[in-house]
Amino acid sequence: MDTKQNDMTPHAAAEALRWLAEMGADEIIGESPVNRLAAPAAKPVATPAAAPAAAPVAVTLGAPAAQCRSLAEIAAALEGFDACPLKKTATRLCYADGNPEARVMLVGEAPGRDEDIQGKPFVGRSGQLLDRMLAAVGLSRAAQDRDSAVFITNTIFWRPPGNRTPTEAETQMCLPFLLRTIELQKPDVIVCLGATPAHRLTGRSDGILKLRGRWVTATVSGRNIPLLPTLHPAYLLRQPAQKRLAWRDMLSLRQMLDAH
Ligand code: URA
Repeated sequence: MDTKQNDMTPHAAAEALRWLAEMGADEIIGESPVNRLAAPAAKPVATPAAAPAAAPVAVTLGAPAAQCRSLAEIAAALEGFDACPLKKTATRLCYADGNPEARVMLVGEAPGRDEDIQGKPFVGRSGQLLDRMLAAVGLSRAAQDRDSAVFITNTIFWRPPGNRTPTEAETQMCLPFLLRTIELQKPDVIVCLGATPAHRLTGRSDGILKLRGRWVTATVSGRNIPLLPTLHPAYLLRQPAQKRLAWRDMLSLRQMLDAH
């Protein structure tokens, strides 16, 4: 087969473009292509004959998050955090949105295409549905008073290419920043959108349809926080009949806030 690009039929070119979009290469972010798989150029520095073993990952990865004393410092630490490979393929960091004083923290899975462009969680179609669900129970990310406000973040802070499922290693790298965010934001309640945050923050591995709607307690740095897993808005867009379950969960959230 001749693979020269200028010999491609319009149909083959359209297919190739479609494939690229499916793989997540759906943005033009530079004038010339960059081969991110190419080996880095050798550095002109002498290396010791026997390099010391790399430090254990868990030790080095927890430290930048633990040192942060404010949410702004977490955002800054993430901007400078190069260990997560997702950062290389994402357009920008997508850390958090909403009111840092809010009683409610929502934790999603990972940024998608729109979030990757705007750098804010839940700004695409599923975010618009989420905003409507919250509004139905008197909550908003734009609210100034902490009783009606929400703070929104994700389990992963950079878009995985093509929205693929993040690897265990990528998730583990982001987890200290999520936990430190919870410590500093001090929510009264946490709502997990989808299975990924629910599994990370509760240690359970049941499917989301089993977990949803049941309050559990998340213990973060010794503080017990009521946590409600619910369905992810992207799932509700695909399965609109399940919105009635999500509505029940929103009412349960409302009741919990009103009772405390
Ligand atoms: N889905 C998520 O889980 N998070 C976002 O920020 C957007 C979509």
